[in-house]
Amino acid sequence: MPLRPGLEGVPVTQSSICDIDGNQGSLKYRGYPITELASNSSFLETTFLLIWGELPSKQELSDFEREVQMHRRLSFRVRDMLKCFPESGHPMDALQSSAAALGLFYSRRAIDDPKYIYNAVIRLVAKIPTMVAAFQLIRKGQDPIQPRDDLPYSSNFLYMLTEQEPDPLSAKVFDRCLILHAEHSLNASTFSARVTASTLTDPYAVVASAVGTLAGPLHGGANEDVIAMLEEIGTPHKAGEYLDNAIKNKQKIMGFGHREYRVKDPRASILQNFGEELFARFGKDEMYEVAKSLEEEAIDRLGPKGIYPNVDFYSGLIYRKLGIPRDLFTPVFAISRVAGWLAHWREQLGANRIFRPSQIYTGMKTRTWTALEERPNNKDE
Ligand code: CMC
Repeated sequence: MPLRPGLEGVPVTQSSICDIDGNQGSLKYRGYPITELASNSSFLETTFLLIWGELPSKQELSDFEREVQMHRRLSFRVRDMLKCFPESGHPMDALQSSAAALGLFYSRRAIDDPKYIYNAVIRLVAKIPTMVAAFQLIRKGQDPIQPRDDLPYSSNFLYMLTEQEPDPLSAKVFDRCLILHAEHSLNASTFSARVTASTLTDPYAVVASAVGTLAGPLHGGANEDVIAMLEEIGTPHKAGEYLDNAIKNKQKIMGFGHREYRVKDPRASILQNFGEELFARFGKDEMYEVAKSLEEEAIDRLGPKGIYPNVDFYSGLIYRKLGIPRDLFTPVFAISRVAGWLAHWREQLGANRIFRPSQIYTGMKTRTWTALEERPNNKDE
């Protein structure tokens, strides 16, 4: 079999969770178009849909919301652990460590018990936002604030992070951003989650490995780099020149390109509309015009290769408007993507076979060991 670097186009599993048509720019979760979910659903309802396969009934949704709400708090040991991390460390590393640490607290590994699976889902969905917000306050030298039971999921996260109850528009836009990032088939972090799941380890290890994978700049970490790039460009009229230089130097434009899409990522278009709603109410982000100009200038230069804005291109501008610091953009992505990871965890367990791909060996054939003093590359000779 020929080598396919990056496994491009190689099916490695069957899945009924997410359907992408990269030529049409369409994305569906469990058959529901992302546009419909982003207009009508809530993040927790979408999470339920992704993980259990069907939209919840009224009763199922209220039970799910109530249980997530009841499990938002962190053990004081997890809070204390977060306090020991250096404040200069990246919040994704803090999140990866604290997600893995949950496995210490819930060490029973009963992945064939539906109750265990349900409880693990609840804990991870409930506690990950609290961990992200707690690390943010701790690194500012403050004690984390407790979740508020009267606030829904997204409002509560923004409250724990900014210490202010968000206005309804901010909370709505944030919740919808979470819906848009919740699942995207076999991206690198989800693949990583499935590989880890295939060993039958616990779900906390599954999520921790996915968080580590999401952190890289070619994946979730791109949303941070987009803002740095827009600031480097500085003004809209410099976008064309920036693109020409980047293309000449074979440098990637952050927030552009996607293995699956040959057109603009549908999530980027929806996010751009949400951004405009926020900017109309609270004032425009100064980098928005730079972003629009970059997108326009890129049509002729990158469009013919099927390279258009992806989900990371406009998300950072929205998060900035919501008061979220730049290095929390990727942890926020993780808060959302945990829904997809857990859906894939369940699906993997349903028809498991351990992942163990092959390789094409390019190293030396059999060699004879040489005694240390006889090696030709001895430095002192
Ligand atoms: N800017 C300029 N050229 C690009 C870009 C880009 N952002 N993306 C791809 N290309 C070019 C690349 O140079 C190559 O050209 P050539 O064939 O002439 O050498 C061609 O397109 C194929 O690129 P590739 O890197 O082999 O494509 P891939 O499918 O392996 O990579 C990607 C997909 C997302 C890693 C890549 O587009 C990229 O690095 N984008 C920038 C980082 C980014 O925005 N990542 C977020 C991805 S979406 C959300 C997520 O997954 O978290």
